[in-house]
Amino acid sequence: MAVRRLAAEQPDHFAFTADNLAWAKKVIDRYPAGRQASAVIPLLWRAQEQNDGWVCEPAIRYIADMLGMPHIRVLEVATFYTMFQLQPVGKKAHIQVCGTTPCQLRGAEDLIRVCKSKIAAHAHDLSADGDFSWEEVECLGACVNAPMVQIFKDTYEDLTPESLEKLIEDIAAGREVTPGPQNGRRFSMPEGGATSLTEIEDDTAGALPMAHLVDGAEKASHAFAGASINGGGQDYDGVPVPAEAAVARVKDEVVARKAAEAAKASDRAGGHADRARRAGQTRGEGGDPRTGEARGRTAGAGKAGRAAAARPREGTGTAERTACGQRRRPETDQGHRPEDRGHPARAGRLPLRPDRGMDRGEQGLGRDQAEVQGPDRA
Ligand code: FES
Repeated sequence: MAVRRLAAEQPDHFAFTADNLAWAKKVIDRYPAGRQASAVIPLLWRAQEQNDGWVCEPAIRYIADMLGMPHIRVLEVATFYTMFQLQPVGKKAHIQVCGTTPCQLRGAEDLIRVCKSKIAAHAHDLSADGDFSWEEVECLGACVNAPMVQIFKDTYEDLTPESLEKLIEDIAAGREVTPGPQNGRRFSMPEGGATSLTEIEDDTAGALPMAHLVDGAEKASHAFAGASINGGGQDYDGVPVPAEAAVARVKDEVVARKAAEAAKASDRAGGHADRARRAGQTRGEGGDPRTGEARGRTAGAGKAGRAAAARPREGTGTAERTACGQRRRPETDQGHRPEDRGHPARAGRLPLRPDRGMDRGEQGLGRDQAEVQGPDRA
């Protein structure tokens, strides 16, 4: 893309007409207080339409002042988006030819050749009578109807060199033209009509684009022809919901959602704590008799507690697992130390197998003894 600079020659002054000023105020009201800068693009667009299809430097300063923005910010927007023309364009039509891949594969280069022969040899140059200009742009979002061109607000699709020539001739002669596909198909439907789901009655068709005169940017701004997508061809100029009310409603929704999430999380945490308490009571049979503290308290206090309790403790004889996951008999049970050899009962220790009739409760195990058996036997 060529470097986008402001035109060398500029008018001295720019101001919205009374109608456009009233419209601009409505647009600004769509945004919350302090966010008026959000209206910069629609206002620049309307300034372009009023100024014969291009944005002049005084208009940039005028809009920046209106929105309380630094001039440089509005200049950045105007020079960034190719929808804004920075130098005078054709009085009747400025034709933007899409040159991106789908359109190019479908013949965009032929359309550019037509523009070169009928308008001017170079993009952005005016035609001899000053009525037309053209440029190549990137994808305009109508790839399914490639190749296409855009003239002000409207697109003309499914073009051939012949149909583009006719379009230019009709505009030059002051005849009405109809936006949309130029090959007879409706929107992006198959050429020749629907081929599938034909048994379904289509009541969503909407209105067809209306034929209209293309005669400069200012007229295009008030006679938008995309009837099917724009409520009967009327340019929308309302304020749908007072901006502050909309923002307040969204904020309320966010607060309510966060409160509901917090309540849910708190319920879940309460459930965990109850289960942990119950588990602690169950396991606490061998707890400290003096304090009444359940041994299972730690083990029942959550994942970390259970993991800690399950870790073998040195010298306690807690059952360990081998690398392959098999339970290994505790060291004390294997009789590695001299005093442990022989029957555990002889060594003053207790059997680890409850099925040998040594019920822990009957024996009145204290805390230390219970730990010998480990949490997995609690
Ligand atoms: S490629 Fe031309 S409209 Fe998308």
